[in-house]
Amino acid sequence: MIASLCLSQSSESQNMTVRIAQISDTHLSASKPVFERNFDIIAEDLRRLAPDLVIHTGDISLDGADSDEDLSHAIRRQREIGIDVVLLAGNHDVGDDPSFNPRQPANTERLARWMRHVPQTGRIIDIPGWRLICIDALILGTDLIEANAQDEMIRTAITSAAGRKLALFLHKPVCDEALDETVRHSRFLTPQRRAHLLALFAGTLPEVISCGHVHQYRDGVIGGSRHIWAPATSFMISDPWQPGFGAKTVGYLEHAFEADGTHTHRLVTVRGLSHHDLLHVPEAYGDIRRWGQGGA
Ligand SMILES: [Fe+2]
Ligand SMILES: [Fe+2]
Repeated sequence: MIASLCLSQSSESQNMTVRIAQISDTHLSASKPVFERNFDIIAEDLRRLAPDLVIHTGDISLDGADSDEDLSHAIRRQREIGIDVVLLAGNHDVGDDPSFNPRQPANTERLARWMRHVPQTGRIIDIPGWRLICIDALILGTDLIEANAQDEMIRTAITSAAGRKLALFLHKPVCDEALDETVRHSRFLTPQRRAHLLALFAGTLPEVISCGHVHQYRDGVIGGSRHIWAPATSFMISDPWQPGFGAKTVGYLEHAFEADGTHTHRLVTVRGLSHHDLLHVPEAYGDIRRWGQGGA
């Protein structure tokens, strides 16, 4: 289903600039509330900013893939922002590619848990000049029924775009440096899943592809698309436990979509945020040194 965003009067009167805040990787948990304070600060800043919409690009919860309590809590907290939030699943919400995380594969059971809270996988949202395609990256290219439905949603969104520019939002980066790279790493879509996604787009690549997952901010052009990585609101992972691909910081993004098809974004850092280093927060996921260097 394709929805049109109900725009505020301010957006209507400012040459149709639609402002969309992107938050990511909040990693919230009632039982391990280490990242709640950062979320409170960002939620307050979002209320001040008053964007037309918030898109959350996943890892909403600390361990929603296994804990209904974590998922319920994390999603309830998004509603406290007081602005419409599109929720996209991350690997900590619905599980991951089993080749990377055999303990927590994205499967029917985990997706059912997610869909008790978020009944829709993916969202298509039209704004002046643009079509926003918001997808759940962790089910892409799987044999889950919901993945087939999402594929069909993407195909329809492409074929009926009628000249609108496309912006894709998802949890994992589509690639590191090139669309045809063959490296397999849990940080990025695998080559197979990337090929599956690109086939759905049938040669019409989005102008903007914006994701989360790596907990680093990055902005670059690959294959003609602007690839933007949102930082986490929760934590970053210091060298050498995670290589530096971009800027290790915490915060969120503000996107400005113009009716003439142009787009800009900015990294928003907020005073008072704690730049948590996961190395020093073992209560979240244990001692990350056991992952080995570069393993995060
Ligand atoms: Fe994350
Ligand atoms: Fe993630």
